[in-house]
Amino acid sequence: MSDVQAQIDETHRQGEAELRDARTADAVEQWRIKYLGTKGAVRNLMQLLGKVPKEQKPVVGQRVNAVKDQLTAAFEARKSELSASAGPVMTEDVTEPGRRPEIGNRHILMKVVDELVELFARLGFSVASGPEVEDEFHNFVALNIPKSHPARDPLDNFYLAPETGEGKAPPAGSQALDQPDGQALLLRTQTSTVQIRVMEQQRPPIRVVIPGRVYRPDTHDETHLSMFHQLEALVVGRDVTMVDLKSTVLQFVKAYFGENTRVRFRPSFFPFTEPSAEVDVWFEDKQRWIELGGCGMVHPNVLTACNIDPEVYSGWAFGFGIERIAMRKYGIHDIRLFVENDVRFLKQF
Ligand code: DAH
Repeated sequence: MSDVQAQIDETHRQGEAELRDARTADAVEQWRIKYLGTKGAVRNLMQLLGKVPKEQKPVVGQRVNAVKDQLTAAFEARKSELSASAGPVMTEDVTEPGRRPEIGNRHILMKVVDELVELFARLGFSVASGPEVEDEFHNFVALNIPKSHPARDPLDNFYLAPETGEGKAPPAGSQALDQPDGQALLLRTQTSTVQIRVMEQQRPPIRVVIPGRVYRPDTHDETHLSMFHQLEALVVGRDVTMVDLKSTVLQFVKAYFGENTRVRFRPSFFPFTEPSAEVDVWFEDKQRWIELGGCGMVHPNVLTACNIDPEVYSGWAFGFGIERIAMRKYGIHDIRLFVENDVRFLKQF
């Protein structure tokens, strides 16, 4: 009996001493196998039980169990001591089921384009588009903008240098305009170009909206970018009047911004419309009118340039800034936010 007791005590003492000397996770694991494993020292003590007289079994059994518990507790404590000092602990549970990765969302401006196209579709408009690199004929000439007009000043447009025979562009700035009238190329300054392209291909009745990008060498500020978007509309038919224009614009503004939105028409001038007006919408947050864009009755010269008889047909058109529409609708205070690609901004919509 005392033999067995001594062996138990010795295993206990030795186990604790060796555990104190185990300084790495590996060593602690080796210790666990040696003492607590299925063929370990504690297990051996259990087997000793078979050799003790029956009446002593309960006492010796309890003693072995106590040693087992104490060594197990000491092992757990040593293990967490070591992992606490082992530097950063992995906090993610790698056994958790995966989550769907975060995906992006459509740019707010493209959502607004979709909303506008959808709204005008309900008013019977289809959608048209045209090239962003345009010739002067479609950007100016056919829109009744003569060569002498200040809008054609090279400083107000992104003209493209013509290619030479070898496929190389000539030195910057030269010759861009030394070509027969209407042929020089530029980045379109307005989506009104597509009015011409539509009328070249379709006969009245015409009822289209044209969303698209336009380019102007403007200095960037709160309300200006050198690239922005316009929504153009064109309606041509018999007996089309200014009443149709005004009522369509009013319906659009109230449907999109709300029944109580304040809108006004101001007389204006555009070479391709007569009469012409500008449309302003009241910005509640800024407490001022902001111009959405221009509109008017299509000038007879424009219809004639597209082989549509102005004695038979009439039309109206408008061109509105889409960024301004989006800003009014979603309370965005600075147009530059649309192009800065700040995820904190983009994620809000
Ligand atoms: N194209 C003009 C601009 O960019 C806006 C405009 C005015 C478009 C009158 C129209 C219009 O269709 O009828 O400033």
